[in-house]
Amino acid sequence: MPAFDNLQIKLLANQKIWLITGVAGFIGSNLLEKLLRLNQQVIGIDNFSTGKQRNLDEVQALVNPNQWANFNFFVGDIRNLDDCRKACDGVNYVLHQAALGSVPRSLADPIATNASNIDGFLNMLIASKDANVNSFVYAASSSTYGDHPALPKVEENIGKPLSPYAVTKLVNELYAEIFARCYGFDTIGLRYFNIFGKRQDAEGAYAAVIPKWTAAMLRGDDIFINGDGETSRDFCYVDNAVQANLLAATSVTNSARNQIYNVALNNRTSLNKLYGLIKETLQLHCELPSSKLIYRDFRSGDVRHSQADISKAQKLLGYSPLFSIDKGLKAAMPWYINEVVKRDN
Ligand SMILES: NC(=O)c1ccc[n+]([C@@H]2O[C@H](COP(=O)([O-])OP(=O)(O)OC[C@H]3O[C@@H](n4cnc5c(N)ncnc54)[C@H](O)[C@@H]3O)[C@@H](O)[C@H]2O)c1
Repeated sequence: MPAFDNLQIKLLANQKIWLITGVAGFIGSNLLEKLLRLNQQVIGIDNFSTGKQRNLDEVQALVNPNQWANFNFFVGDIRNLDDCRKACDGVNYVLHQAALGSVPRSLADPIATNASNIDGFLNMLIASKDANVNSFVYAASSSTYGDHPALPKVEENIGKPLSPYAVTKLVNELYAEIFARCYGFDTIGLRYFNIFGKRQDAEGAYAAVIPKWTAAMLRGDDIFINGDGETSRDFCYVDNAVQANLLAATSVTNSARNQIYNVALNNRTSLNKLYGLIKETLQLHCELPSSKLIYRDFRSGDVRHSQADISKAQKLLGYSPLFSIDKGLKAAMPWYINEVVKRDN
Protein backbone atom coordinates (compact mmCIF):
# COMPACT_ATOMS: atom_id res chain seq x y z
CA MET A 1 0.00 0.00 0.00
CA PRO A 2 1.39 3.52 -0.80
CA ALA A 3 3.05 5.13 2.25
CA PHE A 4 0.57 8.01 2.41
CA ASP A 5 -2.53 5.75 2.39
CA ASN A 6 -0.97 3.72 5.13
CA LEU A 7 -0.21 6.83 7.18
CA GLN A 8 -3.73 8.21 6.84
CA ILE A 9 -5.20 4.95 8.13
CA LYS A 10 -2.80 5.00 11.09
CA LEU A 11 -3.61 8.61 11.93
CA LEU A 12 -7.36 8.02 11.82
CA ALA A 13 -6.87 5.36 14.49
CA ASN A 14 -4.49 7.38 16.64
CA GLN A 15 -5.00 11.04 17.52
CA LYS A 16 -1.87 13.19 17.90
CA ILE A 17 -1.33 16.86 18.68
CA TRP A 18 0.01 18.95 15.81
CA LEU A 19 1.14 22.56 15.80
CA ILE A 20 0.85 24.52 12.55
CA THR A 21 2.52 27.93 12.52
CA GLY A 22 1.18 30.25 9.83
CA VAL A 23 -2.09 28.30 10.00
CA ALA A 24 -4.19 31.14 8.53
CA GLY A 25 -2.02 31.23 5.40
CA PHE A 26 -2.31 29.32 2.15
CA ILE A 27 -0.29 26.16 2.90
CA GLY A 28 -1.00 26.28 6.65
CA SER A 29 -4.78 26.26 6.14
CA ASN A 30 -4.52 23.34 3.69
CA LEU A 31 -2.52 21.40 6.29
CA LEU A 32 -5.16 22.28 8.87
CA GLU A 33 -8.00 21.03 6.67
CA LYS A 34 -6.25 17.71 6.03
CA LEU A 35 -5.32 17.08 9.66
CA LEU A 36 -8.80 17.91 10.96
CA ARG A 37 -10.32 15.59 8.35
CA LEU A 38 -8.03 12.89 9.78
CA ASN A 39 -9.46 13.62 13.27
CA GLN A 40 -6.18 15.01 14.57
CA GLN A 41 -5.88 17.63 17.28
CA VAL A 42 -4.36 20.85 15.94
CA ILE A 43 -2.97 23.96 17.58
CA GLY A 44 -2.54 26.93 15.26
CA ILE A 45 -0.70 30.22 15.60
CA ASP A 46 -0.71 33.15 13.20
CA ASN A 47 -0.23 36.92 13.42
CA PHE A 48 -2.41 37.58 10.32
CA SER A 49 0.39 39.50 8.61
CA THR A 50 -0.48 37.80 5.32
CA GLY A 51 -2.84 35.08 6.60
CA LYS A 52 -6.61 35.57 6.68
CA GLN A 53 -9.42 34.77 9.11
CA ARG A 54 -11.49 33.79 6.07
CA ASN A 55 -9.07 30.91 5.36
CA LEU A 56 -9.85 29.53 8.81
CA ASP A 57 -13.60 30.15 8.31
CA GLU A 58 -13.44 28.22 5.06
CA VAL A 59 -11.79 25.23 6.74
CA GLN A 60 -14.45 25.34 9.46
CA ALA A 61 -17.14 25.11 6.77
CA LEU A 62 -15.42 22.09 5.18
CA VAL A 63 -15.01 19.88 8.26
CA ASN A 64 -17.62 18.58 10.69
CA PRO A 65 -18.24 20.30 14.06
CA ASN A 66 -16.45 17.55 16.03
CA GLN A 67 -13.39 17.90 13.83
CA TRP A 68 -13.48 21.70 14.15
CA ALA A 69 -13.63 21.33 17.96
CA ASN A 70 -10.18 19.67 17.71
CA PHE A 71 -8.69 22.98 16.57
CA ASN A 72 -7.24 25.44 19.04
CA PHE A 73 -6.16 28.76 17.49
CA PHE A 74 -4.47 31.75 18.99
CA VAL A 75 -3.25 34.98 17.50
CA GLY A 76 0.46 35.13 18.19
CA ASP A 77 3.76 36.12 16.68
CA ILE A 78 6.74 33.82 16.23
CA ARG A 79 9.03 36.81 16.71
CA ASN A 80 8.00 36.50 20.36
CA LEU A 81 9.59 33.51 22.12
CA ASP A 82 6.82 33.32 24.76
CA ASP A 83 4.20 32.93 22.02
CA CYS A 84 6.27 30.09 20.54
CA ARG A 85 6.59 28.36 23.90
CA LYS A 86 2.84 28.65 24.49
CA ALA A 87 2.15 27.16 21.05
CA CYS A 88 4.56 24.22 21.51
CA ASP A 89 3.29 23.08 24.89
CA GLY A 90 2.28 19.39 24.77
CA VAL A 91 2.71 19.14 20.98
CA ASN A 92 3.82 15.95 19.15
CA TYR A 93 4.51 17.29 15.66
CA VAL A 94 5.39 20.82 14.54
CA LEU A 95 4.72 21.95 10.96
CA HIS A 96 6.43 25.32 10.82
CA GLN A 97 5.03 27.38 7.92
CA ALA A 98 4.97 30.93 9.32
CA ALA A 99 7.23 33.28 7.37
CA LEU A 100 7.04 36.27 5.08
CA GLY A 101 7.11 34.80 1.58
CA SER A 102 7.94 36.50 -1.72
CA VAL A 103 11.27 37.54 -3.21
CA PRO A 104 10.02 41.07 -4.16
CA ARG A 105 8.68 41.67 -0.63
CA SER A 106 12.10 40.78 0.79
CA LEU A 107 13.80 43.18 -1.63
CA ALA A 108 11.42 45.96 -0.56
CA ASP A 109 11.72 45.25 3.19
CA PRO A 110 14.56 42.88 4.10
CA ILE A 111 14.34 43.73 7.81
CA ALA A 112 10.74 42.51 8.13
CA THR A 113 11.53 39.34 6.19
CA ASN A 114 14.59 38.71 8.34
CA ALA A 115 12.66 39.18 11.60
CA SER A 116 9.89 36.67 10.87
CA ASN A 117 11.94 34.23 8.81
CA ILE A 118 15.15 34.08 10.85
CA ASP A 119 14.42 35.39 14.38
CA GLY A 120 11.00 33.70 14.31
CA PHE A 121 12.48 30.47 13.00
CA LEU A 122 15.12 30.39 15.75
CA ASN A 123 12.43 31.03 18.38
CA MET A 124 10.40 28.13 17.01
CA LEU A 125 13.44 25.82 17.06
CA ILE A 126 14.20 26.70 20.69
CA ALA A 127 10.58 26.41 21.84
CA SER A 128 10.13 23.07 20.01
CA LYS A 129 13.38 21.63 21.37
CA ASP A 130 12.56 22.70 24.93
CA ALA A 131 9.04 21.24 24.62
CA ASN A 132 10.55 17.89 23.47
CA VAL A 133 8.33 17.63 20.40
CA ASN A 134 8.62 14.37 18.43
CA SER A 135 9.45 16.10 15.18
CA PHE A 136 9.90 19.53 13.65
CA VAL A 137 9.17 19.95 9.94
CA TYR A 138 9.71 23.35 8.36
CA ALA A 139 8.95 25.10 5.10
CA ALA A 140 12.24 25.55 3.29
CA SER A 141 12.39 26.88 -0.26
CA SER A 142 13.69 26.16 -3.76
CA SER A 143 15.13 29.70 -3.66
CA THR A 144 18.01 28.14 -1.72
CA TYR A 145 19.36 26.76 -5.02
CA GLY A 146 20.11 30.37 -5.96
CA ASP A 147 22.55 30.65 -8.85
CA HIS A 148 23.41 26.94 -9.07
CA PRO A 149 22.86 26.12 -12.76
CA ALA A 150 22.28 22.34 -12.63
CA LEU A 151 18.87 20.89 -13.51
CA PRO A 152 17.09 19.11 -12.02
CA LYS A 153 17.97 20.46 -8.57
CA VAL A 154 19.48 17.90 -6.22
CA GLU A 155 19.33 18.67 -2.50
CA GLU A 156 23.11 18.58 -1.91
CA ASN A 157 24.06 21.06 -4.66
CA ILE A 158 23.12 24.64 -3.86
CA GLY A 159 24.47 27.92 -5.17
CA LYS A 160 24.56 31.44 -3.78
CA PRO A 161 21.23 33.00 -2.73
CA LEU A 162 19.83 35.67 -5.09
CA SER A 163 17.56 37.61 -2.70
CA PRO A 164 17.13 38.47 1.00
CA TYR A 165 14.26 35.93 1.11
CA ALA A 166 16.59 33.19 -0.17
CA VAL A 167 19.16 34.14 2.49
CA THR A 168 16.56 33.65 5.23
CA LYS A 169 15.58 30.22 3.94
CA LEU A 170 19.23 29.16 3.68
CA VAL A 171 19.88 30.37 7.25
CA ASN A 172 16.90 28.26 8.41
CA GLU A 173 18.61 25.18 7.01
CA LEU A 174 21.92 26.11 8.66
CA TYR A 175 20.24 26.58 12.04
CA ALA A 176 18.36 23.31 11.65
CA GLU A 177 21.62 21.47 10.98
CA ILE A 178 23.30 23.10 13.97
CA PHE A 179 20.41 22.16 16.27
CA ALA A 180 20.87 18.52 15.25
CA ARG A 181 24.62 18.68 15.69
CA CYS A 182 24.79 20.66 18.94
CA TYR A 183 21.56 19.70 20.72
CA GLY A 184 20.59 16.40 19.08
CA PHE A 185 17.30 18.03 17.98
CA ASP A 186 15.83 16.41 14.83
CA THR A 187 14.32 18.47 12.03
CA ILE A 188 13.20 17.98 8.45
CA GLY A 189 13.22 20.79 5.88
CA LEU A 190 10.90 20.68 2.87
CA ARG A 191 12.09 22.79 -0.03
CA TYR A 192 8.83 23.79 -1.67
CA PHE A 193 8.87 24.63 -5.39
CA ASN A 194 6.07 27.05 -6.42
CA ILE A 195 3.15 25.57 -4.56
CA PHE A 196 -0.32 26.51 -5.83
CA GLY A 197 -3.93 25.73 -4.97
CA LYS A 198 -7.01 26.88 -3.08
CA ARG A 199 -6.68 29.69 -0.52
CA GLN A 200 -3.59 31.12 -2.22
CA ASP A 201 -3.92 34.88 -2.23
CA ALA A 202 -4.60 36.36 -5.68
CA GLU A 203 -4.55 39.99 -4.59
CA GLY A 204 -1.78 42.46 -3.81
CA ALA A 205 1.68 43.22 -5.08
CA TYR A 206 3.17 39.95 -3.87
CA ALA A 207 0.63 37.48 -5.23
CA ALA A 208 2.03 34.35 -6.87
CA VAL A 209 1.79 33.92 -10.62
CA ILE A 210 -1.01 31.31 -10.89
CA PRO A 211 -3.64 33.06 -8.75
CA LYS A 212 -2.62 36.46 -10.15
CA TRP A 213 -2.94 35.44 -13.81
CA THR A 214 -6.11 33.49 -13.15
CA ALA A 215 -7.80 36.53 -11.59
CA ALA A 216 -6.55 38.75 -14.43
CA MET A 217 -7.88 36.36 -17.11
CA LEU A 218 -11.27 36.18 -15.43
CA ARG A 219 -11.47 39.97 -15.24
CA GLY A 220 -10.01 40.72 -18.69
CA ASP A 221 -7.10 42.62 -17.10
CA ASP A 222 -3.63 42.91 -18.65
CA ILE A 223 -1.32 39.98 -17.92
CA PHE A 224 2.38 40.67 -17.42
CA ILE A 225 5.15 38.19 -18.09
CA ASN A 226 8.51 39.07 -16.56
CA GLY A 227 11.12 38.42 -19.26
CA ASP A 228 10.67 36.34 -22.42
CA GLY A 229 8.28 33.80 -20.89
CA GLU A 230 10.78 30.96 -21.14
CA THR A 231 11.58 31.20 -17.43
CA SER A 232 10.40 27.91 -15.98
CA ARG A 233 9.21 26.52 -12.67
CA ASP A 234 8.27 23.19 -11.13
CA PHE A 235 4.68 24.11 -10.17
CA CYS A 236 3.33 21.82 -7.48
CA TYR A 237 -0.27 21.47 -6.28
CA VAL A 238 -0.72 22.04 -2.55
CA ASP A 239 -2.04 18.53 -1.77
CA ASN A 240 1.38 17.16 -2.76
CA ALA A 241 3.00 19.49 -0.21
CA VAL A 242 0.50 18.43 2.45
CA GLN A 243 1.37 14.80 1.78
CA ALA A 244 5.10 15.54 2.14
CA ASN A 245 4.55 17.32 5.47
CA LEU A 246 2.57 14.49 7.02
CA LEU A 247 5.02 11.84 5.83
CA ALA A 248 7.99 13.89 7.07
CA ALA A 249 6.52 14.61 10.51
CA THR A 250 5.72 10.97 11.19
CA SER A 251 8.87 9.45 9.67
CA VAL A 252 10.71 7.46 12.30
CA THR A 253 13.76 6.03 10.59
CA ASN A 254 16.99 7.83 11.41
CA SER A 255 18.02 8.03 7.77
CA ALA A 256 14.86 10.03 6.93
CA ARG A 257 15.37 12.60 9.71
CA ASN A 258 17.73 15.56 9.80
CA GLN A 259 17.39 15.90 6.07
CA ILE A 260 16.23 18.41 3.48
CA TYR A 261 13.83 17.28 0.73
CA ASN A 262 12.62 18.79 -2.50
CA VAL A 263 8.83 18.96 -2.72
CA ALA A 264 7.67 19.28 -6.32
CA LEU A 265 7.00 17.09 -9.35
CA ASN A 266 10.29 16.95 -11.31
CA ASN A 267 8.50 18.69 -14.15
CA ARG A 268 9.39 22.07 -15.64
CA THR A 269 6.75 24.41 -17.11
CA SER A 270 7.65 27.69 -18.83
CA LEU A 271 5.59 30.80 -18.09
CA ASN A 272 4.46 30.83 -21.74
CA LYS A 273 3.18 27.26 -21.39
CA LEU A 274 1.61 28.03 -18.01
CA TYR A 275 -0.33 30.91 -19.55
CA GLY A 276 -1.86 28.49 -22.08
CA LEU A 277 -2.62 25.85 -19.47
CA ILE A 278 -4.45 28.26 -17.16
CA LYS A 279 -6.42 29.66 -20.08
CA GLU A 280 -7.47 26.21 -21.32
CA THR A 281 -8.47 25.10 -17.83
CA LEU A 282 -10.53 28.23 -17.21
CA GLN A 283 -12.24 27.86 -20.58
CA LEU A 284 -13.62 24.51 -19.38
CA HIS A 285 -15.66 26.56 -16.89
CA CYS A 286 -16.47 29.86 -18.56
CA GLU A 287 -15.96 32.15 -21.51
CA LEU A 288 -13.08 34.53 -20.87
CA PRO A 289 -13.04 38.24 -21.68
CA SER A 290 -10.03 39.17 -23.79
CA SER A 291 -6.92 40.26 -21.90
CA LYS A 292 -3.65 41.61 -23.22
CA LEU A 293 -0.41 39.65 -22.68
CA ILE A 294 2.48 42.05 -22.05
CA TYR A 295 6.16 41.04 -21.82
CA ARG A 296 8.27 43.25 -19.58
CA ASP A 297 11.77 43.19 -17.99
CA PHE A 298 13.10 40.21 -16.07
CA ARG A 299 12.52 40.60 -12.33
CA SER A 300 15.47 41.11 -10.01
CA GLY A 301 16.27 38.14 -7.74
CA ASP A 302 14.40 35.60 -9.88
CA VAL A 303 16.13 32.37 -10.88
CA ARG A 304 15.82 31.42 -14.56
CA HIS A 305 14.85 27.76 -14.35
CA SER A 306 13.70 25.53 -11.59
CA GLN A 307 13.00 21.83 -11.58
CA ALA A 308 13.35 19.42 -8.68
CA ASP A 309 14.82 15.98 -8.46
CA ILE A 310 12.34 14.38 -6.05
CA SER A 311 13.95 10.96 -5.77
CA LYS A 312 15.23 11.57 -2.23
CA ALA A 313 11.73 12.30 -0.87
CA GLN A 314 10.35 9.34 -2.84
CA LYS A 315 12.97 7.00 -1.42
CA LEU A 316 13.25 8.15 2.21
CA LEU A 317 9.74 9.49 2.92
CA GLY A 318 7.63 7.45 0.50
CA TYR A 319 6.52 10.74 -1.12
CA SER A 320 4.39 10.09 -4.18
CA PRO A 321 2.78 13.26 -5.60
CA LEU A 322 -0.76 12.52 -6.74
CA PHE A 323 -1.37 15.77 -8.63
CA SER A 324 0.32 16.67 -11.93
CA ILE A 325 0.24 20.37 -12.88
CA ASP A 326 -2.82 19.79 -15.13
CA LYS A 327 -4.69 17.86 -12.46
CA GLY A 328 -3.74 20.49 -9.86
CA LEU A 329 -4.95 23.35 -12.06
CA LYS A 330 -8.24 21.52 -12.67
CA ALA A 331 -8.64 20.99 -8.92
CA ALA A 332 -7.79 24.61 -8.07
CA MET A 333 -9.77 26.53 -10.71
CA PRO A 334 -13.29 26.24 -9.24
CA TRP A 335 -11.99 27.83 -6.02
CA TYR A 336 -10.14 30.62 -7.86
CA ILE A 337 -13.20 31.38 -10.00
CA ASN A 338 -15.48 31.50 -6.98
CA GLU A 339 -13.03 33.78 -5.19
CA VAL A 340 -12.96 36.31 -8.02
CA VAL A 341 -16.77 36.22 -8.32
CA LYS A 342 -17.12 36.79 -4.55
CA ARG A 343 -14.66 39.69 -4.55
CA ASP A 344 -16.14 41.43 -7.56
CA ASN A 345 -19.75 41.27 -6.40
N1 LIG B 1 3.80 29.10 -1.61
C1 LIG B 1 4.95 28.72 -2.13
O1 LIG B 1 5.08 28.46 -3.33
C2 LIG B 1 6.18 28.56 -1.25
C3 LIG B 1 7.41 28.20 -1.86
C4 LIG B 1 8.52 28.03 -1.05
C5 LIG B 1 8.43 28.20 0.32
N2 LIG B 1 7.24 28.59 0.88
C6 LIG B 1 7.18 28.76 2.33
O2 LIG B 1 6.04 28.08 2.82
C7 LIG B 1 5.53 28.74 3.98
C8 LIG B 1 4.04 29.03 3.81
O3 LIG B 1 3.88 29.87 2.67
P1 LIG B 1 2.45 30.29 2.09
O4 LIG B 1 2.58 30.30 0.62
O5 LIG B 1 1.39 29.50 2.74
O6 LIG B 1 2.41 31.80 2.56
P2 LIG B 1 1.28 32.62 3.36
O7 LIG B 1 1.75 34.03 3.37
O8 LIG B 1 -0.06 32.33 2.81
O9 LIG B 1 1.39 31.98 4.80
C9 LIG B 1 2.34 32.38 5.77
C10 LIG B 1 1.60 32.55 7.08
O10 LIG B 1 2.53 32.89 8.11
C11 LIG B 1 1.98 33.94 8.89
N3 LIG B 1 3.08 34.67 9.51
C12 LIG B 1 4.04 35.41 8.90
N4 LIG B 1 4.87 35.96 9.81
C13 LIG B 1 4.43 35.54 11.03
C14 LIG B 1 4.85 35.79 12.35
N5 LIG B 1 5.90 36.59 12.61
N6 LIG B 1 4.18 35.23 13.37
C15 LIG B 1 3.09 34.43 13.13
N7 LIG B 1 2.62 34.18 11.89
C16 LIG B 1 3.29 34.73 10.84
C17 LIG B 1 1.18 34.78 7.92
O11 LIG B 1 0.20 35.60 8.52
C18 LIG B 1 0.57 33.70 7.03
O12 LIG B 1 -0.66 33.24 7.53
C19 LIG B 1 6.40 29.98 4.16
O13 LIG B 1 7.43 29.65 5.08
C20 LIG B 1 6.99 30.20 2.78
O14 LIG B 1 8.23 30.89 2.84
C21 LIG B 1 6.12 28.76 0.13
